[in-house]
Amino acid sequence: MRMLTSGDEDIRIAAEAIKAGRLAAFPTETVYGLGGDAFNVSALARIFEAKRRPRFDPLIVHIADLSTLDMAADIRSLSPSLRAKLDVLCRELWPGPLTLALPKQPSVPDLATSGLPTVAVRFPSHPVAQKLIRYSTGVIAAPSANPFGYLSPTKAGHVQEQLGERVDFIIDGGRAGIGVESTVLDLTEDPARILRPGGTSREAIEAVIGHVEMGFPPTRDAPQAALHSPGQLASHYAPKAPLFLHDAGAMSHLPFCPGEAYLFFDEETRGAWSMRNARNAGGDERIFTLTHDADKGTADKTLEAAANLFDTLYIIDNIKPSAIHAQKSPDIGLGVAINDRLTRAAAKRN
Ligand code: TXA
Ligand code: MG
Repeated sequence: MRMLTSGDEDIRIAAEAIKAGRLAAFPTETVYGLGGDAFNVSALARIFEAKRRPRFDPLIVHIADLSTLDMAADIRSLSPSLRAKLDVLCRELWPGPLTLALPKQPSVPDLATSGLPTVAVRFPSHPVAQKLIRYSTGVIAAPSANPFGYLSPTKAGHVQEQLGERVDFIIDGGRAGIGVESTVLDLTEDPARILRPGGTSREAIEAVIGHVEMGFPPTRDAPQAALHSPGQLASHYAPKAPLFLHDAGAMSHLPFCPGEAYLFFDEETRGAWSMRNARNAGGDERIFTLTHDADKGTADKTLEAAANLFDTLYIIDNIKPSAIHAQKSPDIGLGVAINDRLTRAAAKRN
């Protein structure tokens, strides 16, 4: 494995590797991706191998130019109404943290889509991701660059720690700004359906295409639905320590237990908890908060919290607590995606 900078020459090195069927991890605005040529079956197999990922989990293909959408998706087979929605989504929300499930072109390998008739396509806004895609093959398959089921990486160091020699190159582009994965929107049914909440809020999508359905809560007992979008597997995005999820009221009443870690959404709840646990208040390295700016509006707080979520869980996991108590986010904006990830992390216990 070789760490690369986000300079042009280094991006070209990674692009050449991808053209040659090798793998390169790269920054996007959501999380780091593990990229390979979407049309090269052995590169796709290497991605599954590196992630230790079950073959039934389909990959997102990334484009950096609307004219290449046709290479992956058969958009002529969409109904006129869905076609109109696609056009407005592309215009208003691409590039950005939104993935669209569309009818696939026959040329996209089944390995990329796990045999589904649809393909998930995303146009990331991160300049390094765009260059890598343009300098290589134009269509890069990239899941999040973490072992299957574990926390998604928001820094190059996370990828190095988790995948090490299983990846050829890692481009270090600093911190991924959004911090949770893209929203996956199924655009093959009308109304469209959110299969995975993520970096684009439901509110933002509904502002441009009207009502959308929601495809969660977790589908533990519905293997068919899980197969439809395995990011919906009940247990996913999980730290190693068992995680317990609490609403703000319950969180502020928790007793302090040495050895356990506490992840607060806001300073207010942390403050209320610290008052009750006066003996332990202040300076404990097992106590974390996702937002720090009390003056922000709630939706903006969820942006700040999403950006800090996975990195904070990595830090918590590294101190090896016996349990993690996490506070739910308010259920608006990116809070929906945060709660989705925390709920799946908590599901690992069972
Ligand atoms: O933000 C992101 O989306 C990141 C960055 C790297 O772009 N990528 C990412 O990929 O999160 P991955 O593979 O970790 O998650 C892909 C999600 C999974 O939940 C998968 O089930 C879903 O997309 N998916 C892929 N193809 C699909 C399809 N054809 N229909 C429905 N869901 C699909
Ligand atoms: Mg993932």
